[in-house]
Amino acid sequence: MQIANVDIKTLKDKYQTPLYVYDEDAIRLQCQRFIKNFKHKDIKTSVIYASKAFLTIGMVQLIKSEGLMLDCVSQGEVYTALKAGFDPKHIVLHGNNKTIEELQMALNFKIGYIVLDNPFEARLLMDIVSENYIPKVMLRINPGIDAHTHEYIKTSKLDSKFGVSIEDKETLEIIFELSKHPYIEFLGTHSHIGSQILEPKSFIEHAKTVLNFYKLVKDTYNVDLKAVNLGGGFGVKYLKDDIRLDLEKVLPMMLDSIYETANQLGIIMPHVMIEPGRSIVAEAGYTLYTINQTKETINHKKYIFIDGSMNDHIRTALYQAKYDCLIIDKENHEPDTTYTVAGKACESGDIIIHDILLPKANPGDLLLVKTTGAYHYSMASNYNRLTIPAVVFLSKGKDKLIVKRQSMMDLIQYDEVL
Ligand code: LLP
Repeated sequence: MQIANVDIKTLKDKYQTPLYVYDEDAIRLQCQRFIKNFKHKDIKTSVIYASKAFLTIGMVQLIKSEGLMLDCVSQGEVYTALKAGFDPKHIVLHGNNKTIEELQMALNFKIGYIVLDNPFEARLLMDIVSENYIPKVMLRINPGIDAHTHEYIKTSKLDSKFGVSIEDKETLEIIFELSKHPYIEFLGTHSHIGSQILEPKSFIEHAKTVLNFYKLVKDTYNVDLKAVNLGGGFGVKYLKDDIRLDLEKVLPMMLDSIYETANQLGIIMPHVMIEPGRSIVAEAGYTLYTINQTKETINHKKYIFIDGSMNDHIRTALYQAKYDCLIIDKENHEPDTTYTVAGKACESGDIIIHDILLPKANPGDLLLVKTTGAYHYSMASNYNRLTIPAVVFLSKGKDKLIVKRQSMMDLIQYDEVL
């Protein structure tokens, strides 16, 4: 089994397991697909990578070299980006519940775009801006689109913790205030309807709803909103039989529909931004584990116990997400046994995959879980004082360490003695 022309078995000796493995060429290809397909001759467009899916210094460098912008939601993500030499002008600062210190940091570093979550946050910013730096600002709104995805990763319901509803009168008022502020360049709204969306029509409906709101802003206050950020959410393929969102179709369709709608409504053609996270990295990522043990219960349930856990793979426990995996060197063996793949954490919910048909597994075999590139390393934890795995990039037959494996020393580095 090879990924990017690297024999996966060789990685075990060199880096040990569990190990996050990325096909660097595949990530680059995804970046290029977004840039290439999110283009329209009459619309200015930007593709912004959502850091939360997977961020390290090396990943920032990759994003920079592919010419994408960066969405950061915390000081930590901004710090990582700046340390990697990313131009602050190309950073979009998100996050709800921002403190005055975070907003001040954004002004000090001259972060390109600040997305405000609500009127409270807007007023915090309006109080601290000055003629020294005029930030580009957007407001996060809830267009109330019902994206068909898991409840926990839906973000645009009208009573969501994020943003302000387009049905709320105060939303219009705060937009007017922001657009009149002398030290703010108010561009428009940001909205993100959810993650892992597989229906093209959700994206179109989203764009149309927001542009209709722009028309309302224009009619109410005669304010032209110059840009629109439609967030991320482009779904990926986790299992063999899953469908995959066709980016070559959806992205141009979104732009065509924006072009048509803006013309119909008689509003100015906005600069259109999107923020893919998962769709850039998910399918390029894998997690490599060693099978430590197998067990059959009295009820004939068969377990594979790997050397990782929900600490490096939380999505199954958290969202009932489903994954595919294979046993290295047994790719062509008959899959005749149904296994549940479980980890080392002291938690019954520490399951990586429920009921998957695999060839007979033996201790010492290597197990490769697919599509773990997004929200795995970035959501890893040290529960039970288990260490977080290393991350390796593979490209054109070569492997490169991107994040070192945590050590026992790392685990106690912040502890003080009694
Ligand atoms: N922009 C904003 C403002 C967002 O809130 C998100 C994701 C994105 C962009 C990127 O969305 P994507 O293209 O990756 O779907 N931990 C969850 C996903 C949470 C996503 C939160 N926001 C999971 O593992 O499924």
